[in-house]
Amino acid sequence: MKVTVVGAGNVGATCADVLAYREIANEIVLVDIKEGVAEGKALDIWQKAPINLYDSRTVGSTNDYAKTAGSDVVVITSGLPRKPGMSRDDLIETNAGIVKSVTENIIKHSPDAIIIVVSNPLDVMTYQAHLTSGKSRNKVMGMAGILDTGRYRAFLAEELNVSPKDIQAVLMGGHGDTMVPLPRYTTVGGIPVTEMIAKDKLDAIIQRTKTGGGELVKLMGTSAWYAPGSAAAQMVEAIVRDQKRVFPVCIKLEGEYGIEGTYLGVPVILGKNGIEKVIELDLNDEEKADLETSRTHVKEVMDVLDKLNSK
Ligand code: NAI
Ligand code: 2OP
Repeated sequence: MKVTVVGAGNVGATCADVLAYREIANEIVLVDIKEGVAEGKALDIWQKAPINLYDSRTVGSTNDYAKTAGSDVVVITSGLPRKPGMSRDDLIETNAGIVKSVTENIIKHSPDAIIIVVSNPLDVMTYQAHLTSGKSRNKVMGMAGILDTGRYRAFLAEELNVSPKDIQAVLMGGHGDTMVPLPRYTTVGGIPVTEMIAKDKLDAIIQRTKTGGGELVKLMGTSAWYAPGSAAAQMVEAIVRDQKRVFPVCIKLEGEYGIEGTYLGVPVILGKNGIEKVIELDLNDEEKADLETSRTHVKEVMDVLDKLNSK
């Protein structure tokens, strides 16, 4: 299997590293626009192979997409990250141009590739990649839900003093402060989380999850990369190994949850055909209202993108 990661910055390089050391693909191509950076990081990851005992090959490329030809999966991480005080939506104009040109290059050389978008604002950059590629919706998706759910699960594990492995959760909606964690679908070793934690503590964790990206930006001056890079690699693994994993993933909704045409995170089954099924949960009124708030927000930013594209 061949996987390309575009953008050899913090998230892209982490993703390529995880893909290599977990031997998720046997050939990994890292691409960046900055001269030599992708080649350097790919070489560094390859030189780690004898130490960490893996044999996936990593190759770097400065904007030469010929090297990416025939990729099965492409992860797009190219674009500006947030700085303190910025929202993900502030990145739209610059990142839309980058995602558009990168997608054009990808489909020229790998017309059958499944595309996973990571660049922010995530839901709307997934829309851009979908528009540019013209692929069916199950082959163009965004990574955010695994990261956001990872934050939620990590905070819960810390509070309950249990292994994060035993916390299962679903989170829906856009990748922003309107995301919708779902306590009704959160369990600890199969036990409903609401039986394990007081409501005020759970509410505080949900709030911290919603602003979890911003918490890291404040600490580091830029956005996170270890969890995002690993989350994108986990999606690649589900596809290349046809694992049929159930993850929250951003996809264009076509009637599911009563939503038409908006890109939102929902639980899906991920396998060799990309998104193989959207799972529809029976949401209660409060959950539906929260999802609608998130949909409205994402749709507003999608409209901004439409205006930019029509200029
Ligand atoms: P970074 O600045 O470390 O890396 C971005 C890389 O993209 C840079 O190396 C840059 O040279 C490259 N790049 C820019 N234009 C390019 C082009 N046209 N072709 C190829 N490469 C190009 O940023 P970082 O931290 O890796 O974040 C990348 C993106 O991912 C940002 O938009 C960030 O907001 C987003 N992000 C999304 C997350 C999610 O959950 N969806 C989580 C974390 C970050
Ligand atoms: C994150 O959630 C900024 O989207 C990025 O860390």
